[in-house]
This record gives sequence, structure tokens and C-alpha cells, in this order.
Amino acid sequence: MALMSSFAPRLSDADLLARIQSYHWWHSIALREGLTTFGGKTEAILAQEEQALLSPFDLAGRSVIDIGAWNGYFSFAAKRRGAARVLATDSYIWNHPIWRGRETFDLARAELGLDVEALMLDPPQITPQLGLFDVVMFLGVFYHLYDPIEVMARLRGITRQLLLVETHSDLTDQARPGMVFYPGAILNQDATNWWGPNPATMLHLFLQLGFTRIFYRDHPTLGRARGIYAAFTPEVAEGLILRFDDNWRDLDVPGAIEALVTA
Ligand SMILES: C[S@@+](CC[C@H](N)C(=O)[O-])C[C@H]1O[C@@H](n2cnc3c(N)ncnc32)[C@H](O)[C@@H]1O
Repeated sequence: MALMSSFAPRLSDADLLARIQSYHWWHSIALREGLTTFGGKTEAILAQEEQALLSPFDLAGRSVIDIGAWNGYFSFAAKRRGAARVLATDSYIWNHPIWRGRETFDLARAELGLDVEALMLDPPQITPQLGLFDVVMFLGVFYHLYDPIEVMARLRGITRQLLLVETHSDLTDQARPGMVFYPGAILNQDATNWWGPNPATMLHLFLQLGFTRIFYRDHPTLGRARGIYAAFTPEVAEGLILRFDDNWRDLDVPGAIEALVTA
């Protein structure tokens, strides 16, 4: 795919700063020396999230899809870590008249000059026609969906090796599977937040969908309030996993959920 930056004239620093300031950002992305987008998530938090999410894996030569990419930080990170193909997708925020997410993604991609594809796609529209991806990233999206379980089945249909999920969590002190429903805007005054699953729910959902190994860690800065899950298909290649550090737990062994709840 041709890069946007091949065709657009290079903006002056002043014009780039003005473009950055004309948008709201979620990701703080260094676009040029001294020119970083002003995201709700700081560069430091994103660096810790990237380390937690991506450092256990060797992405070199893999195909990666980022569902709900927003400004594109994790798509760009996957490309920089050597992924052969990265497809960034989004819909809600990319079409939002105030957040104008697609424009922010396009600006960042052009400035960074990274060969990352983009597709306007709402998670419930995912079908096997998209093809298989070695790595599917589903970060910060699960709890925004009214029917996340149906979407997880769709994600299974496009996952060749690894489904990486980051989500708000609830009921984390309980070993029984449970998921809290948040009607209206009761979670963080945001009417797009619907669900808070606990690790037991996620484990059994992954197993139900045919994932065979499931690893879990707490969020690197928010702790148990959010969870990160790495779920592998039976076809996972040996070389994909580099190393899970001590923050990660193997959830699909007997007693793992009980040990997590009491930790
Ligand atoms: C909290 S942001 C996460 C962005 C990025 N993946 C990250 O982890 O930083 C939530 C993302 O979910 C997407 N999304 C998908 N379906 C949504 C829905 N029904 N309501 C709200 N957001 C939705 C948004 O467009 C947005 O990109």
C-alpha cells in the first residue's frame, strides 16, 4: 500500500503543531523531534503498556490487525517491531464528529511514514473474509461493546495464532465467572462502557472459542482494575512467544484462577 506521506507535501513544524492542536488525541505519539500529540494517555503510560503487551512476542514477519486502533499507537508499535503487515481498523471514534479519529490516524501515519493499512470497520462487522492474522489486538474495546461475546467469536474466526485482549475488569475478587453490566453512563460517566468481566469469565470464554493456552497479567499502571490476556490457538508457532515475565500467569492450569483471586 502506498504511503500517504509519499504524496503529501511535508508540513512545516508550525503547520504540523497547528494540525496536532486542531484535534483531540488519546495517544501521545512523538511525530517529530519536539512535536508530540497531546494524548489522554501519556508517552510514559503508553511505553509501559507497549512493553507489557508486545514485548513477550516476536512480531517480526507476522501479520497483525489492531481492532479499535484510534490514533494508531499500537499499530505503529507493531510495525516498528517488525510486523510484515499491519491493518489498523476502527469506526466509532474514526467517524466521531468531535474526536475525528480517522484524521488523527492519517496525520500520524503520514508523519511517521509507516506502511500501516487502514480500514473503517466496526467490530460487529468482522467476518472471515478479512482473512487470518497471526496476531489480533483487541485493546480497550471489549467493554465498549454491547455484545462483546458475539464479537469475540468473530475475532476467533480471524485469529491464526494469538488474540491479545486488554479490558476493564470487575469482580476480580471472585473465582466464579462473572461480568458486571453498566447501564447508562455509570462506569466513568461514559455511556459507551457496558461490561466489566473477571478473569474467570475471560478464561472460559477463550476456552469455549477454541483457544488452548491463556495467559493473564494485570495492567502495568492500573493493576487489577484492567486485565491483559494472551490467548493462543492450537496452531501457534513456537517462535511467536519470546518470554512471559513474572507478571504473567498461565490461566489454563488447575487452580490458577483461585491463586489469582487470592494474590
Ligand atoms: C479506549 S479506546 C482504545 C484505543 C486503543 N486500542 C488503545 O488501547 O489505546 C476504545 C476504542 O474502541 C473503539 N470502539 C469500537 N466500538 C466501540 C463502541 N461501540 N463504542 C465506543 N468505542 C468503540 C473506539 O473507536 C476506540 O478506538
